[in-house]
Amino acid sequence: MGLGRRLGATAALGIGTLGYSYLEATRRFVVREVTAPVLPAGHEPIRVLHLSDIHLVPTQLPKREWLNSLAELEPDLVVDTGDNLAHPDSVAPLVGGLAKLLNVPGAFVFGSNDYFSPKLKNPASYLRGGTGVDREGDWERERDLPFDALRAAFTRQGWLDLNNDRGELTVKGTRIAFTGVDDPHLRLDRLDHQPADLTADLRIGVAHAPYLRVLDSFNAAGNELILAGHTHGGQLQVPGFGALVTNCDIDRRRANGLHQHRTPGHDASWLHVSAGCGTSPYTPFRFSCRPEATVVTLTG
Ligand SMILES: [Fe+2]
Repeated sequence: MGLGRRLGATAALGIGTLGYSYLEATRRFVVREVTAPVLPAGHEPIRVLHLSDIHLVPTQLPKREWLNSLAELEPDLVVDTGDNLAHPDSVAPLVGGLAKLLNVPGAFVFGSNDYFSPKLKNPASYLRGGTGVDREGDWERERDLPFDALRAAFTRQGWLDLNNDRGELTVKGTRIAFTGVDDPHLRLDRLDHQPADLTADLRIGVAHAPYLRVLDSFNAAGNELILAGHTHGGQLQVPGFGALVTNCDIDRRRANGLHQHRTPGHDASWLHVSAGCGTSPYTPFRFSCRPEATVVTLTG
């Protein structure tokens, strides 16, 4: 094959891969199922719908319809690990998409994309792992997304706001104690290192970004399950190799899916990292890493 034809074939492959990656990110939503044996013996299984990284723009109708369809999974509990918004007008469409799920007991924490609008960045900075929001200056006043309206919409329906807070829900007779932190990627996590409520039947730690300091603290505090998002599963995965980056200090192997986390002297916690169901609107590409929601079934 001549040089010209080889270049042409390479360009066609690149354009095809880019086109597929756009399609995967914007259309190929999937529901994954995992099982975490964290309940005391004799307790009924609990189906937790783990949502993360929706990054909603109001015009994303297929995503809104898919979110709406998730109520058919009939979860017992919904946990949203943040990065819900990608536009100042997204709260109403998001709440519309989640309307039925908001009638289910739930809990949430925020990520940077609940506070700050997405910005066009050099994709190479993501591959270097450095996409954190610069908190220099009056960053609280610079928060331009309607996070307070989002918080009100969720808490009005009874969802627990776990941003640097604790809460409790009883689901199918199981008393669950939650501990959450505000976004560790923005260094907003305030960890008190206090043991979780040992009188509850189950303890769950919730964070947007699975930084190791947060996982260590949740594990040492006795949480049997930790839920997080943020990584997007690397967004672009290499088949047979996995994620290239995690956008935080967790290892690539645990960029998404069900794993464990252990600190010396403590029993392992189960850790579920969601690959999320969105991307920044400036990088609407996924490869071998479909946008997802996960049903985490808790069993004895
Ligand atoms: Fe995200």
